[in-house]
Amino acid sequence: MHRAGLVGCGRIGSEFDDDPKRSNIATHAGAYSAVPETELVAVADINKEKLEKCIKKWDIGSAYQSYEELLEKEALDILSICTWTSQHLDIVKSAVEHGVKAIFCEKPIAVTLGDACQMVELCKTNNVLLQIDHQRRFCEFHQRVREILLNGKLGNIQQASFHYTAGIANTGSHMFDLLRFLFGDVSWVMAVQSENKSHNPTDPNLDGVIKFKNGLFCSIHACDVKKFLIFELDIIGAEGRIRITHSGFDLEFYEIQESNTFSGYKELYPSKPLINKNTPRDFMINGVKHIVNCLEEGKNSISSGEDGLRALELIHAFHISAKEGEKIHLPLTRKEHLDNIPGCEMDNII
Ligand SMILES: NC(=O)c1ccc[n+]([C@@H]2O[C@H](COP(=O)([O-])OP(=O)(O)OC[C@H]3O[C@@H](n4cnc5c(N)ncnc54)[C@H](O)[C@@H]3O)[C@@H](O)[C@H]2O)c1
Repeated sequence: MHRAGLVGCGRIGSEFDDDPKRSNIATHAGAYSAVPETELVAVADINKEKLEKCIKKWDIGSAYQSYEELLEKEALDILSICTWTSQHLDIVKSAVEHGVKAIFCEKPIAVTLGDACQMVELCKTNNVLLQIDHQRRFCEFHQRVREILLNGKLGNIQQASFHYTAGIANTGSHMFDLLRFLFGDVSWVMAVQSENKSHNPTDPNLDGVIKFKNGLFCSIHACDVKKFLIFELDIIGAEGRIRITHSGFDLEFYEIQESNTFSGYKELYPSKPLINKNTPRDFMINGVKHIVNCLEEGKNSISSGEDGLRALELIHAFHISAKEGEKIHLPLTRKEHLDNIPGCEMDNII
């Protein structure tokens, strides 16, 4: 049995599972409670009300208002970090000092590249597994889409486009990670401020394009979250098309057929699904199962600290491009962009 602890009993820590519309476990506390190999032994939150609500909901033995005290008193194997992003580094430092073996950290990995680099380095040096919660990587549905692309079932990918809302860091972290998961590393980006503003002035919406190392172009379009939520990826191959819709809870498939409308042309028409629509979406539970499996088998996570760092690098590259009006090549080089970020030597990490 692996002893787990949780810092931050807010929405992703515990509260999303109060939502009657969510049919899958959607929180760290819920996932530890559902996985037989883990026991959530203690939680911490500076907010007493949230702390009490959480221990009552999940029947947890110990509660602390300070994460330092939690780490001091409980000998944890796994720690989930579900507090605000700017605090991730300090909590990682403390967890590593207290001998935690694995950290399951919320996205984005950090606010600054310097913090993210330190988190990755610290965990690597101390042999601590660092897993970032870009949860689509743990979802069978998205893993099957990746297999379809890798197996060439859509043929050569001609174009991809993404629509998102609610900030280039907040939602962008998921978007960039999913794109890297499906299409690999990025060569360069170009970005502009979006006309569709973000709800959060400190995390703007940016539009842009991404050129992947494999040659693929993907366009990025921000929409206004006050109108509706959208997180959709359209992938158009030479042999067909897949659209990931409803935040990744639905898929549409299209195949090439003789056109019904124009003689001598072919068009795309809805086809039977290449993936069973009932494929489970237990991504939070799978994330916890995966971290347990990595610990037991000494493997790295499929959603590693380095992957989190690369998603953050793309967020920063979009910001730099929107500010400077230029194409920004990746990886960001220390000389051009990282001199003023202490502790960040991107080239040394991967
Ligand atoms: N993976 C996802 O889909 C997803 C969804 C939502 C949020 N998030 C991420 O999770 C993190 C938290 O977001 P949220 O929406 O759950 O926030 P939230 O405000 O609902 O919860 C954060 C909790 O952390 C507590 N907290 C803050 N500082 C603390 C400290 N020093 N010690 C102990 N507790 C502390 C707060 O009191 C609060 O209860 C963010 O990094 C966010 O980007 C990820």
